[in-house]
Amino acid sequence: MTERVFNFNAGPATLPLPVLEEAQREMLNYRGSGMSVMEMSHRSKEYEAINNEAEANMKELLGLGDNYRVLFLQGGASTQFAMVPMNFLQAGQRADYILTGSWSEKAQKEAAKLGQTHIAATTQEGNYKRIPSLEEIQLSEAPAYVHITSNNTIFGTQWQSFPDFGDIPLVADMSSDILCKLFDANKFALIYAGAQKNLGPSGVTVVVIRQDMIEKAATNIPTMLRYDIHAKNNSLYNTPPSYSVYMVNLVLKWLKAQGGLAAMEQRNLEKAALIYDVIDNSNGFYTGHADKDSRSTMNITFRLPNEDLEKTFASEATKQGMIGLKGHRSVGGMRASTYNAMSREGCQALSDFMKEFMRKNG
Ligand SMILES: Cc1ncc(COP(=O)(O)O)c(C=O)c1O
Repeated sequence: MTERVFNFNAGPATLPLPVLEEAQREMLNYRGSGMSVMEMSHRSKEYEAINNEAEANMKELLGLGDNYRVLFLQGGASTQFAMVPMNFLQAGQRADYILTGSWSEKAQKEAAKLGQTHIAATTQEGNYKRIPSLEEIQLSEAPAYVHITSNNTIFGTQWQSFPDFGDIPLVADMSSDILCKLFDANKFALIYAGAQKNLGPSGVTVVVIRQDMIEKAATNIPTMLRYDIHAKNNSLYNTPPSYSVYMVNLVLKWLKAQGGLAAMEQRNLEKAALIYDVIDNSNGFYTGHADKDSRSTMNITFRLPNEDLEKTFASEATKQGMIGLKGHRSVGGMRASTYNAMSREGCQALSDFMKEFMRKNG
């Protein structure tokens, strides 16, 4: 392959080309420092500036003020599954989980090892095709927090608007849709996301946390799992994943230059429509997994009439430079991940390919 492909992988995923080019330009000598960011002390002025800029850019994009911090941690979103209850689920309390897919199940199971949990709603019946309605959500009495997964990477569903439980802290795993659209981040007590889908390369997990949560976080747990320690130390308690943070900052700068979240939202809706329209106009040749009112703009899941055709679809797409379209085994079929960095051209190419494939095989 001599050309860059259209990479529809779920994560690690495609990155904006201008970001990769900027990283390439700065690779050997970062702004006259004579070294790569990879080689730089995390205690240097240069790195401190990157770290601070990444936090400021994230807050600016999310419209957050001084009552929030942004932390750059390691261990992936999977470590957050444990870190959230370790810090906020005290003895005698209960935490509520809304299950919309395998990742929320994993988050809930991890919390259940550490304390009491309550499943406030689940859409498992029907294999997580949809997001529950507000009426379906039955909270326990005074839960320590409510946890949701904003976008279900495997099933291709996404919360279209977020619930509001008043003073009860709302915690969200936004690994696969953070910064994909305008939303009121001030409604959240804590947001976490592995960077490798919509924010940058793997290796860093972004945690957006409200100040009052930092203040009430547990202190009798291992140091590296304490939010207050990471916040107090500006994410520099120990050696951070510095190159990944640098890359995330380049992505954040790119996002701002694109027009921020409102522009991304518009673009993502248009990109996803290019593919959903083919599914909806295929007379059942393509069938979407997600219910229409729960569809994700980030992960588009669909099946073909049989598994042989699905295999052929994937291999022919690969030959045409579109890779990573095989779906997750628990849904089967295909999945096109169309994160912020996936270009409109990529979605158009897939849309055209789907029409042509149906013409030949339908
Ligand atoms: C919604 C969601 N949460 C959590 C994870 C796990 O993330 P990590 O691999 O960073 O632990 C993923 C990974 O695909 C995901 O899609």
